Amino acid sequence: MKLIIGLTGGIGSGKSTAAHMFAQLGVDIIDTDVIGHQLTAAGEPALTSIENLFGKGLITVDGKLDRVKLRDLVFNDAVARKKLEEFLHPLIREQVLTALTQSNSSPYTIIVVPLLFETNAYQHIIQRSLVIDCAEQMQLQRALSRGNINDITVRAVMAAQCPRQRRLAQADDVIVNDGGFEELKAKVVEMHEKYLSLA
Ligand SMILES: Nc1ncnc2c1ncn2[C@@H]1O[C@H](COP(=O)(O)OP(=O)(O)OP(=O)(O)O)[C@@H](O)[C@H]1O
Ligand SMILES: [Mg+2]
Repeated sequence: MKLIIGLTGGIGSGKSTAAHMFAQLGVDIIDTDVIGHQLTAAGEPALTSIENLFGKGLITVDGKLDRVKLRDLVFNDAVARKKLEEFLHPLIREQVLTALTQSNSSPYTIIVVPLLFETNAYQHIIQRSLVIDCAEQMQLQRALSRGNINDITVRAVMAAQCPRQRRLAQADDVIVNDGGFEELKAKVVEMHEKYLSLA
């Protein structure tokens, strides 16, 4: 069976950036965030379900999901978050399993799962976990630098995620993303070599 890696990390740690670098090396990437976006795109049945669960206020005039509003809602309301996750996570997982059956020439596959250690829904799918890690202060800065999220919400997301030390303790592999893009790229290449030797 093909080697499957679960890539995770806190908000703003650099998961998407690292995943993009692995993709440039020819690695098959399945990103649960991307799947979540696709499932809730305008006109998709899951969007109607979200409207039914949380009301019309989350849908913009052009029929799209107001993602910022939804995030602000669920990270300030644990019950709403649980409701959203219970609905959306099984749908995402199904899509991941389908994607895994699609054959490709990649020597191994990376699944990007922000909540890998929070949900345990992927523990039987992946063989190894890779954590992208940096100091919390840097996570905060990087998340804020993208705009569209404020300090309070980033902290709320961090509080809802697995604590950094527990995430590190559970990791099989860690990439410390505390330098620039070139440094990250070099670490990604090094990890890629390791995964090629395991695949
Ligand atoms: N090594 C780096 N040097 C400089 N900037 C970086 C580095 N790694 C990531 N960034 C920047 O930090 C921000 C967060 O990175 P990224 O989007 O990859 O994080 P993420 O873990 O996917 O976040 P999220 O949990 O919100 O999906 C981005 O603007 C990205 O360009
Ligand atoms: Mg990301």
